[in-house]
Amino acid sequence: MKSYKEMLERTLLTEEEIQRRVEELGKEITEKFKNDDTPVIIIGILRGCTLFMSDLLREIDLPLEIDYMAVSSYGDSSKSSGVVRIDKDLEEDIEGKNVLIVEDIIDTGLTLDYLDRVLKNRGAKRIYNVCLLDKEERREIDILIDFKGFTIPNEFVIGYGMDYAQKGRNLPYIAVVKRSVYE
Ligand code: IMP
Ligand code: MG
Repeated sequence: MKSYKEMLERTLLTEEEIQRRVEELGKEITEKFKNDDTPVIIIGILRGCTLFMSDLLREIDLPLEIDYMAVSSYGDSSKSSGVVRIDKDLEEDIEGKNVLIVEDIIDTGLTLDYLDRVLKNRGAKRIYNVCLLDKEERREIDILIDFKGFTIPNEFVIGYGMDYAQKGRNLPYIAVVKRSVYE
């Protein structure tokens, strides 16, 4: 593969559209927590969160801690296995803190549901989530999304941190992968 063009059907969200929405999400999050003395820790879910998280953090005007977790449920295919495993755990203690989970995309909801239960067990005061994309149609478990960027159709997307078989994370925009690539 010499260029991403070969695997892409169309652009779904441009760099400008993403940046504008991320700015708004940062403001919403700042408003939500600014009058609360509870410490805030932002937890990025690797590796899809990386670009979103780095842009979002700059738009949140609050003192906060950051940490990362890596979980897998997908392997290299485009279908969820429904099994979630922790590949890299947190380094910080979350007890008594307001936790904000940063996810690139919510699909079946299984990953977020699992993380919610794990982090609650560790004594977080409250757990919130922010996700850039929501593939609503695919939901298998009811999930409450606190801060959402965009609702998108049921298509496989890459870019802005998200991958297909580990490719596409460095695209600055979000694009739909051709069905012929993964079917
Ligand atoms: P869920 O557990 O089914 O909600 O899956 C969530 C995870 O699957 C996301 O954090 C992504 O890593 C991955 N995922 C789901 N849909 C896509 C997609 O269209 N492109 C890239 N990754 C996806
Ligand atoms: Mg992910």
